[in-house]
Amino acid sequence: MQQTADVTEELARRVVAAAGQALDVELTPEQALVQASPREGVDFQANLAMSLGKQLGRPPREVAGLIAGALELDGIADPPEVAGPGFLNFVLRRDWLEGRTGALLGDPRLGVPETPAPRRIALDYSSPNVAKEMHVGHLRSSVIGDALARLLRFAGHEVLPHNHLGDWGTPFGMLIEHLLDVSAGQRAIADLDAFYREARRKFDSDEEFATRARTRVVKLQGGDEDTLAVWQELVDESTRHFNEVYDLLGISLTDKDIYGESFYNPYLAAVVADLEAAGLTEVSDGAICVFPEGFRNRDGDRLPLIVRKRDGGYGYAATDLATVRYWTAERGATDLLYVVGTPQAQHFAMVFAACRAAGWLTGHAEHVGFGTVLGADGKAMRTRAGETVKLVDLLTEAVTQAAAVVAERSELDAAGQAEVARAVGIGAVKYADLSGDRERDYVFAWDRMLAKEGNTSVYLQYAHARTQSILRKAGGLPEGTDVVLEAPAERALALKLLRFGEALKAATSAYAPHKLCTYLYETAVAFSRFFEECPVLKASSPELRASRLRLTALTSQVLVLGLELLGIETPERL
Ligand code: ARG
Repeated sequence: MQQTADVTEELARRVVAAAGQALDVELTPEQALVQASPREGVDFQANLAMSLGKQLGRPPREVAGLIAGALELDGIADPPEVAGPGFLNFVLRRDWLEGRTGALLGDPRLGVPETPAPRRIALDYSSPNVAKEMHVGHLRSSVIGDALARLLRFAGHEVLPHNHLGDWGTPFGMLIEHLLDVSAGQRAIADLDAFYREARRKFDSDEEFATRARTRVVKLQGGDEDTLAVWQELVDESTRHFNEVYDLLGISLTDKDIYGESFYNPYLAAVVADLEAAGLTEVSDGAICVFPEGFRNRDGDRLPLIVRKRDGGYGYAATDLATVRYWTAERGATDLLYVVGTPQAQHFAMVFAACRAAGWLTGHAEHVGFGTVLGADGKAMRTRAGETVKLVDLLTEAVTQAAAVVAERSELDAAGQAEVARAVGIGAVKYADLSGDRERDYVFAWDRMLAKEGNTSVYLQYAHARTQSILRKAGGLPEGTDVVLEAPAERALALKLLRFGEALKAATSAYAPHKLCTYLYETAVAFSRFFEECPVLKASSPELRASRLRLTALTSQVLVLGLELLGIETPERL
């Protein structure tokens, strides 16, 4: 199957070539400023004439006219009209659109090429803490991170996922002692948070326990085997809980992706030694610190990254320095991405700066931050008792709520409904998390995320189920690839379908899954208009019926692939 550039890019290249010829300027395709036009009856516009006119000291309309005159469109669009201050307005030719749309049929990648320049991307996501339940912050990291992993892989990159479990540090002394106290018999922990709270309570109130806990930390750090065995039990027990959540969510992380804080232990001493040798460290208050260039607090004091604490222990920052070095030097990652909440922005900025100064980081590193999940009161989401909301509880509730929504108009039996409720409920939670700009906070609201209308996964799943129902009734898709775009709604739908690749590219390059969500929503809206205005099964001719079935099948394929890349299922029937 021939892989082609997307429509916007194709027009942009031609506009740039024409500008080069007519005006002797050299521009990149981006500088052609080609975009979908908001104007009725116009498909695309190129907005370069305004800035180019200023630059060349010529009237923009004249510049636009000269570009238009030199354009080679090869049948893609009619010669553009110059409008307003100097817009070039393009209307795609119907036969070209028809050919392009038909060519998508049978292409599992829907015309989207793989990148010619694949990268090796280390992707840190989910990263919950051992002996604590996963909370909604980890939901965001897991869901956004998994969508990015899918998008980047589809684009042709190599993704190295790593789950940076919080599995090390001083709390493990008390956790291990508590586990030893309570686990005379079997050692299953039903409720991680309750377990953690109980350990903390004993640590704060029982001096003898606290002393034992401190001794235990020293043993753990010293590599004492019995201690490590108990620690491992805690990690395994927690991992079982995490895997339960991943299974429910359909997150592809497995045990082999676990690179917890403890993994980097063997690297920490060298990290400190090499930073010292490079002259990058200073001793401050007994701790060994790096003060990366350009980070100061409000009073203008330099901010430290503590690489070794006064007591000789290593903390979060040291581990992250080792993490950067491991994935770049040992695993050859060209890009490092961290899907972690925005409150840690400064931490990552400082880690990256320190690693660049040390020469451990030369490629691209980015903190892919996300906002907080808020409750109805506009504050960080909590349970009524004021505790953090456990993810398992939240997801169970999602499936229950979805079951009620599905039952309203389902044609399925009880077992079918239960399966669909899972796909709808989990999909709704994930989609709500993905469909807004990730850096913004959002309010968690069941009725909004499970609404059948609007930009929700339920709406998209219903649209997909409708395409399937039409195709079932038609007895399948007719042979051939001819597409006829007669009605405006048909044309609009085809144009949307052709822009799938562009939406993917935008979502992937900005690590912004919401751009794909918006596109899928617009596609479903275009389909619904098409469905209302263009009879499919009762079309006026066999050719038109076949063409409309093909548009229906392509819509289905776009929705399935698009949602799959977001990690959301598309049941055949709802
Ligand atoms: N465990 C941390 C938390 O729950 C997130 C770790 C993120 N990754 C990292 N390399 N620091 O907040």
